[in-house]
Amino acid sequence: MTDLKRFVIILVIMGIGLVITACSGESAPAPEENNGPQVAELTDEARACVECHATETTGIVADWDGSRHAAEAVSCIDCHQVEADSPMALSGVEGHEDLTVAVSMLVSPAACNECHEEQVAQFDASGHYRAGLQVFAKDSMQTLIHVHEGQNHPELSSASDETGCMQCHGIVFKIDESGHPTPNTYPSSGMGNVYPDGDVGNCAVCHTRHSFEIAEARKPEACASCHLGPDHPDIEIYENSKHGQIFATEGEDWIWDSAPGEWEPGDYRAPTCATCHMSGIGELETTHNITERLYWNLWAPLSTMRDSTDVMSGALGDGEAGRELMKTVCGECHSTTLSEGFFESGDKAIRLYNEAYFIPAEEMRAELATLGLLKENPWKDEFQITYYYLWHHEGRRARQGALMGGPDWAHWHGFFELQQDLYKMEDIYNLRIETGEIEQ
Ligand code: HEC
Ligand code: HEC
Ligand code: HEC
Ligand code: HEC
Ligand code: HEC
Ligand code: HEC
Ligand code: HEC
Ligand code: HEC
Repeated sequence: MTDLKRFVIILVIMGIGLVITACSGESAPAPEENNGPQVAELTDEARACVECHATETTGIVADWDGSRHAAEAVSCIDCHQVEADSPMALSGVEGHEDLTVAVSMLVSPAACNECHEEQVAQFDASGHYRAGLQVFAKDSMQTLIHVHEGQNHPELSSASDETGCMQCHGIVFKIDESGHPTPNTYPSSGMGNVYPDGDVGNCAVCHTRHSFEIAEARKPEACASCHLGPDHPDIEIYENSKHGQIFATEGEDWIWDSAPGEWEPGDYRAPTCATCHMSGIGELETTHNITERLYWNLWAPLSTMRDSTDVMSGALGDGEAGRELMKTVCGECHSTTLSEGFFESGDKAIRLYNEAYFIPAEEMRAELATLGLLKENPWKDEFQITYYYLWHHEGRRARQGALMGGPDWAHWHGFFELQQDLYKMEDIYNLRIETGEIEQ
């Protein structure tokens, strides 16, 4: 046993001691928040998990120990217990011989739903819900993953998915006879995991297990593990914005752990991702539907106003209502004149992208396709590769940069590169039309 583990056991035992003394009325009143492991309040079954796991998986118990859940006597068993006949029920775990309940390793949002119904319902109605489902459904994606990135390798073709796409988008968990998830599907920190019980989602990506803190989820880093990079550089755009500048210079001193619904300007000076897309502010209520406050679709090849209730649709949302909600966020700190001016310029940038870049690019592509002047393998065809970059990388950077106040992304990584892409496509298009052939 390591010294660290010994130390933690001692802490847990001291914790039990403290609670017992507190209950017997001999010591000062317990502190208001996170008052240590309330192990004494747990049933015998629930306490057994905590006590044994304090040495078996020390970090997990330590995280749980400091959480709101521990303070509310919500423990391992409340999330991990399953019906004995659940496909996720574990068998053969060394250490679990004496357990009287069935436990699972996977914990789907259905477990959270027992106590947090509203958050789960909002998540289920959001674009995050389909993060995995839409990738599994698309043949072109599966071809990219297995044929091109995986090079049709007989054993290894899923490696790029397992270490890449799936860690952001999610996976369909498969389980073995003992109820354990298989190594090719687990672990996955993706947003839209599909569980053996049919449930979809992942409640542990923004407030990570086992502390499940709202403070963590309110910080921009909670979104940054997925919303970054050349095709959706949201964290980089944020850092480039005035809001990000203020967060970077003084964010560590802000108040992050105000109760749900009570986190307001004053606790912070500038908004984070959560403030604009999720948190309650002023009259607005917190939402776990990150689609609710959006007007456009800014990841699609052509941006249109959102107007669909189908969670699988790229147009999910109600654009006009979304814009009003977003403006309400701005209005807590800015004048109407500022936000109106900001959105007017931002919307112009979206229309410029649509009308001057995507539509002409798509017209050229469609014509070449009709004439049989596109290579069969799009990833070896300079025209199609440039077309892809135009909407998927440069075009998203320009659009997202414009509407989140990141001038470097709107311009240098955005429109500047867009005009280069378009000119390159025009040259290739003209050559193919003139010669009637695909250049070598
Ligand atoms: C007597 C000790 C003991 C008790 C009591 C106990 N566990 Fe475990 N548990 C273990 C050990 C040992 C492992 C294996 C850890 C490893 O693989 O590193 C484990 C693994 C797990 C796993 C991961 C499954 C796996 O195979 O890796 C979960 C989830 C879990 N326990 C939950 C619980 C819950 C919930 C309870 C209470 C109902 C509980 N445990 C009670 C010792 C215990
Ligand atoms: C509020 C719900 C909740 C509570 C309470 C909870 N867990 Fe978990 N636990 C989860 C979730 C969610 C996951 C991730 C499941 C997944 O990957 O689908 C998880 C994963 C795990 C894992 C496997 C992942 C790993 O890091 O090895 C173990 C082991 C585990 N929990 C043990 C415990 C123990 C022990 C306790 C009590 C101290 C506990 N859990 C309390 C929700 C909870
Ligand atoms: C048995 C009931 C129960 C279950 C199951 C449960 N929770 Fe909780 N949770 C609570 C209670 C009680 C609180 C504290 C009161 C509150 O803030 O609503 C809480 C608070 C929270 C908070 C706020 C923490 C903070 O810093 O204020 C988060 C986030 C959270 N839970 C996430 C989850 C997730 C994710 C799951 C599933 C993996 C889950 N909970 C499962 C009862 C539960
Ligand atoms: C685990 C990865 C991950 C994390 C963490 C994450 N997201 Fe996402 N997000 C995604 C994926 C994947 C999509 C694309 C979903 C789809 O359309 O299939 C997405 C889509 C979105 C969308 C567009 C939704 C739509 O309807 O088109 C918004 C807005 C968004 N996320 C905001 C956030 C915010 C804000 C945070 C942090 C509080 C966050 N995300 C954290 C992976 C993540
Ligand atoms: C670093 C995390 C990350 C990785 C890795 C990743 N994505 Fe995404 N993906 C996202 C995010 C975040 C969005 C949402 C972008 C937005 O809203 O602007 C997204 C959007 C998408 C969309 C558009 C959403 C929709 O509903 O159609 C598709 C399709 C997609 N990704 C497929 C893939 C595939 C396939 C892979 C692997 C070949 C992959 N992604 C790898 C994070 C990631
Ligand atoms: C995209 C990131 C993200 C995901 C995914 C996410 N949460 Fe949250 N969650 C947050 C943020 C941010 C807050 C804090 C909102 C605020 O400022 O009050 C929060 C707060 C909470 C709270 C505290 C009460 C409240 O509504 O503020 C609970 C409970 C909770 N989440 C449960 C869940 C459950 C259950 C799931 C899975 C269905 C989930 N969360 C998925 C970001 C997320
Ligand atoms: C000042 C408020 C604000 C902040 C801070 C902010 N956003 Fe946004 N975000 C917006 C606005 C406004 C839009 C465009 C909405 C529309 O369609 O009109 C947007 C769009 C998006 C989109 C594009 C959705 C789509 O349709 O493809 C994603 C993804 C996103 N934000 C994620 C993030 C992440 C992640 C962060 C933090 C790193 C963040 N946002 C910070 C206001 C904000
Ligand atoms: C919590 C308060 C807060 C919220 C909410 C907020 N902002 Fe800001 N914003 C600020 C602060 C503070 C500055 C820095 C002012 C300065 O540059 O002197 C700023 C700066 C800006 C700037 C840079 C131009 C300028 O006047 O400095 C723009 C543009 C902007 N915000 C737009 C928005 C939009 C659009 C929203 C809503 C989607 C929004 N803000 C929401 C606090 C906020």
